[in-house]
Amino acid sequence: MAVVLLVTPRTNEAADWARLLRARIHDLDFRVHPDSGEAGEVEIVLAWKPPHGLLARFPRLRLICSLGMGVDHLLDDPDLPRSVPIVRLVDSNMIEQMSEYALYAVLHFHRRFDVYERFQRERRWQELPLPHTRSRRVGVMGMGATGEDCAHKLAALGFAVFGWSRTPKRVPGITCLHGADGLTVFLAQSDILVICLPLTRATAGILNERTLRALPQGSYVVNMARGGLVIEKDLLASLDSGHIAGAFLDVTEEEPLPADHPLWTHPNVRLTPHIAGLTNPQTAVEPIAENIRRLRAGEPLHDLVDPALGY
Ligand SMILES: NC(=O)c1ccc[n+]([C@@H]2O[C@H](COP(=O)([O-])OP(=O)(O)OC[C@H]3O[C@@H](n4cnc5c(N)ncnc54)[C@H](OP(=O)(O)O)[C@@H]3O)[C@@H](O)[C@H]2O)c1
Repeated sequence: MAVVLLVTPRTNEAADWARLLRARIHDLDFRVHPDSGEAGEVEIVLAWKPPHGLLARFPRLRLICSLGMGVDHLLDDPDLPRSVPIVRLVDSNMIEQMSEYALYAVLHFHRRFDVYERFQRERRWQELPLPHTRSRRVGVMGMGATGEDCAHKLAALGFAVFGWSRTPKRVPGITCLHGADGLTVFLAQSDILVICLPLTRATAGILNERTLRALPQGSYVVNMARGGLVIEKDLLASLDSGHIAGAFLDVTEEEPLPADHPLWTHPNVRLTPHIAGLTNPQTAVEPIAENIRRLRAGEPLHDLVDPALGY
C-alpha cells in the first residue's frame, strides 16, 4: 500500500488529486492534511507551503514531492527532515504557461503598450518609434526548465536573447553567460530582463541597487520567479529615477501584496497575483506518479533537488 498525504492550501483540488493518482497507483491510500491518520504510516507527501514542522512528524517519510516548480517553500522549514529526498514539479504544461507570461510581458514593453495604455486614457493619438526586434536584447536570468523554454520562444520571435546560469551552457541561438563573472556582462545586455531563477541563499536579493544599476538605462524587468529575488525598495527607486522604465511582476516579497504597498499604484508597474504558472493536477499528476513509481521500484528519481544548492 502506498500511503500518500496531500498538504496544500488548495483543498478544493483534493478530490482531483485522489482520482488522478488512484488511476495510476492501484494500491493507493490517499490522505489529506490535517486528516493524516497514523503519522507512522505516511510515506510520501505532496506539498505546497506545508506548515513548518509538519513534515518532521512522519518518521517513515520516504519522499517529498513539491506541488510547485520551486522548493523554497519546503527548504525554509527549519525542521525539514534532511534525509528525505525532495523532488520538484517539472510539468511541461506549467513551463508553457510561464513562457506565455514572459512573451506577453516582453511584448508589452517592446511594443510600448505600457505607454499606449496611458495615451488611451489621455485620448492621445500618437505614434512612438519602434526599435527593430533583432536589436532588442532580452536577458533570461536562469536557464533551467522555464528559462530555456522562454529563451527559445523569445529567440523565435526575433529578439536577441542572452541567458545566464550558474554553470556554463551551450544553447543554439542564445548567447549564454554564467556565474559571477558573466553577470555584469549579462546585465549590461538586458534591455528587457526576465527573471527565471529559483530563490536560494545565493540568489536572494540578486536584483538590488547595484545590479539594477548594471542594467541599461531605460530597461525593463519581468519577475515571474520569486519576489525575494528582487529588493523591492531598490526597484522602486530605480523606477522613480527612470533608470528602469517598467516592471512586470507576478511575485512580490510579501504575498498577498499588502493593500498599501507602493507597487500597487506605481504607474510603471504591472502586477499579477502569482499566476504565471499554475499547478494543474491533470498534467502535474504524470511526473508525480512517475516519481512515486520510481521510488517504489528503487529506480533513480527525476527532478531531485540538491538541498545544498537550494534548487
Ligand atoms: N510565478 C509562478 O507562477 C512560478 C511558476 C513556476 C516556477 N516559478 C519559479 O521559477 C523558478 C525557476 O524554475 P525552473 O523550473 O526554471 O528552475 P530550474 O530548472 O531549477 O532552473 C534554475 C536555473 O537558475 C540557475 N541558477 C540557480 N542558481 C543560480 C545562481 N546562483 N547563479 C546563476 N544561476 C543560477 C540554474 O543554473 P544551472 O543551469 O547552472 O543549474 C538554472 O539555469 C522556480 O524555482 C520557481 O521559484 C514561479
